[in-house]
Amino acid sequence: MEGNSRSVSSNQQGIHENLRKVVQRHLDEPFQKPYQQHTLDAFHQLEKQVEAAGRPLVFDSCCGTGVSTAALAELHPEALVIGMDKSAHRLTKHQAHFDQAGQNYLLLQVDLNDFWRLALEAGWQPSHHYVLYPNPWPKSRHLQRRWHGSAVFPYMLKLGGKLELRSNWATYLEEFQIALTMAGYNSELNSYQSDKPITAFERKYQNSGQQLWQLQSHLS
Ligand SMILES: C[S@@+](CC[C@H](N)C(=O)[O-])C[C@H]1O[C@@H](n2cnc3c(N)ncnc32)[C@H](O)[C@@H]1O
Repeated sequence: MEGNSRSVSSNQQGIHENLRKVVQRHLDEPFQKPYQQHTLDAFHQLEKQVEAAGRPLVFDSCCGTGVSTAALAELHPEALVIGMDKSAHRLTKHQAHFDQAGQNYLLLQVDLNDFWRLALEAGWQPSHHYVLYPNPWPKSRHLQRRWHGSAVFPYMLKLGGKLELRSNWATYLEEFQIALTMAGYNSELNSYQSDKPITAFERKYQNSGQQLWQLQSHLS
């Protein structure tokens, strides 16, 4: 599988025709879906750890197996790095050989549609927020599954910090950039290449010779 990954194919031509309409609706209307109990429980447990740590927070959202979380913990030794994913299966792959003692990172199984709202309510402000290789949802009808097309998008931005997304689908980040502009934020979109991939997908895409992209915005 390594070195043999296909690039994203979509039935969508360029930027989604409904992008602006969908983003504006979410910017105008609150997201009121009730929280799921499992994310609430995980959040309350985390609150104690965050309080005890007393460090700046770094979010690694959609961390998959948490390879990036460990790498980001090295990059931000001053911080508590929180890797989050909804997939227990992916997280367990990391946890099998992970001893949390002495580490400045932890992994959490949550749904980010709930977690980001809870973190905002609690007044948390990560210094950095990474969203590396989110699911692209390339089918046109799946626009609202992309983070910038989702109802939680305004909450994700209000958390602040230095936001960084990476993707192998330029359209995803071009759309995200338009959504950021609509919300009043500047951003920079650049091609990206790493000597040392920090996620499983980054390694796979790069070994397959795919072009990677990076979007950065200072939200504070
Ligand atoms: C394409 S994978 C990338 C994983 C990792 N960042 C990497 O690059 O190897 C996208 C990840 O997003 C996670 N994800 C998607 N929707 C999510 C949600 N609502 N809450 C938490 N994680 C989510 C998936 O479980 C999956 O692990």
